[in-house]
Amino acid sequence: MKALIICGSRKDGFTSEMCRSFSEGLAVHDVPSEIFFPIEMNIRHCTGCGSCSSGGICSISDDMVLLYKALEGYDLLVLASPIHFSGPSSAIKTVIDRFQTIWFCGRKRSAFAAALLSGGGASPNYNNTISIFKAFSITAKMEWLGHLAISGTDEKEIQDVSGPSFEYGKDVALKLIKGRG
Ligand SMILES: Cc1cc2nc3c(=O)[nH]c(=O)nc-3n(C[C@H](O)[C@H](O)[C@H](O)COP(=O)(O)O)c2cc1C
Repeated sequence: MKALIICGSRKDGFTSEMCRSFSEGLAVHDVPSEIFFPIEMNIRHCTGCGSCSSGGICSISDDMVLLYKALEGYDLLVLASPIHFSGPSSAIKTVIDRFQTIWFCGRKRSAFAAALLSGGGASPNYNNTISIFKAFSITAKMEWLGHLAISGTDEKEIQDVSGPSFEYGKDVALKLIKGRG
């Protein structure tokens, strides 16, 4: 069993720390994971050209090919994002839109999905982001396992998010092991 974590934020922020600690939590139960940072990759926007409607192949040639390949090999997809204007970061949304290929060609392997979210305010609006992530997981025929949201990061230190994310990683690993029977 393997997990693919896509972090829609910078490498030295709250969300990336959530991803790293979550990954360590998964490892406690021997679930290996790999973290991708789309911000550091060459990933262009979906133009809606429709070329993926025949054959499921995107007409854009860029680093998204790494994520197309990765997604097929994993049992768990974790979408991670800071809340930006009550929604997901543009980095993670760009990746989701480029998975429009799945809408047309499906995905060969069943899998699970979960999310890691951070917001600066005391009560950020997570609903829009969760709704988008769930819509994607339904399209990709992934079973939604849930999410961890950490609020109030404006008043927190980065290491404050480590503990809860580590514990959530352990929880999700157990759900994954149970789900895969
Ligand atoms: C463009 C932008 C928009 C933001 N919008 C919100 C928001 O709507 N609600 C909120 O609670 N925090 C908002 N924030 C704060 C981030 O969600 C918060 O600082 C987050 O934990 C940063 O994660 P990072 O360190 O991974 O970038 C915003 C930050 C940025 C840069």
